[in-house]
Amino acid sequence: MKVLGIESTCDETAAAIVESGKTILSHKIASQAAIHHEFGGVVPELASRHHINDIFEVLDATFKEAHLTPHDIDLIAVAKGPGLIGSLLVGIQTAKAFAWSLQKPLVGVNHVEAHLYAALMECEHPEQFFPALGMILSGGHSTLLSIQGIGKYTLIGQTIDDAMGEAFDKVAKMLGLGYPGGPRVEEYAQLGNPKAFPFRAGIVKEKPYSFSFSGLKTAVLYAIQSKEPAQRAEKQFIADICASFQHAAFSNLAEKLKKASVEFHPKALFLGGGVTQNKALRLMLQKELSLPLFWPSPELCLDNAAMIAGLGFHVWRQSKTDELFTLEPITRIEF
Ligand code: KG4
Ligand code: ZN
Repeated sequence: MKVLGIESTCDETAAAIVESGKTILSHKIASQAAIHHEFGGVVPELASRHHINDIFEVLDATFKEAHLTPHDIDLIAVAKGPGLIGSLLVGIQTAKAFAWSLQKPLVGVNHVEAHLYAALMECEHPEQFFPALGMILSGGHSTLLSIQGIGKYTLIGQTIDDAMGEAFDKVAKMLGLGYPGGPRVEEYAQLGNPKAFPFRAGIVKEKPYSFSFSGLKTAVLYAIQSKEPAQRAEKQFIADICASFQHAAFSNLAEKLKKASVEFHPKALFLGGGVTQNKALRLMLQKELSLPLFWPSPELCLDNAAMIAGLGFHVWRQSKTDELFTLEPITRIEF
């Protein structure tokens, strides 16, 4: 079954064609990172306008790369949220128009679940590792799940304030490093001392698997404000702040994952979302955890439509619906 996936939840316009939830026939992404860079974050109005400009070119390129035409597609899957409302509208309306004009079925896919599916999709037989733990670390979510099957999850913990990627972006903004902040913070952190500042992520009372990064972010702000403007711009100072912040955020995560792997006896850990691109995170978890770890390949960590098309295949199979158009998958938890 050939599935066309469309993704436009934030600032990437993406399309992909994936065969039966597994084999990527083509995938294309138009990133707006350079447009939002100067604002230190995504400007929603600009994002939706650029989606409108880019979506048809991205779709054309996706079909060309796969040597397919729209008539060869069996199913259309679109990211139905969470995301920026104006951005979402562009992808969803395009997908609906496509489905209606071609009389093909359409399903809506949860973007956060799709980030996790990126790692499952690249694992040969993920079922052999269930029950597993799943961790999504993106710009909008820090979510820990127990995975019993594709589409069958139990929520274990999530952030009570900022997502981890959001904290990276805010720290980068405070230091004047631009957007997206994660890769810049990682770059500087390599040159810094992780013990230069005694930062710590928050502890959430009676919720051992919940995350809190807003206090950590404020501690970084105070450390920056305690310096004169000239000192704040020094490369070593920036590197030490980045290294100390990154170390505090990742140690907190590693600690919780270690505890969860003792309590829930998972056979593996699947990770997804933009932050999982970070090499220091990968090294730390490899060192700290003694269970198989599955990460998406770098191009599938960030927002993409291959994960949407891939998961769309399962949503369609599990939805038991004969209707041509459905945007409401059945029995899936909301993130
Ligand atoms: O999953 P994603 O592409 O979009 C959302 O669904 O939010 O994640 C984007 C987030 C941004 O906050 C970005 O700063 C962060 O992932 N990120 C990183 C790295 N690369 C991207 N964070 C830490 N280290 C990185 N190398
Ligand atoms: Zn995302």
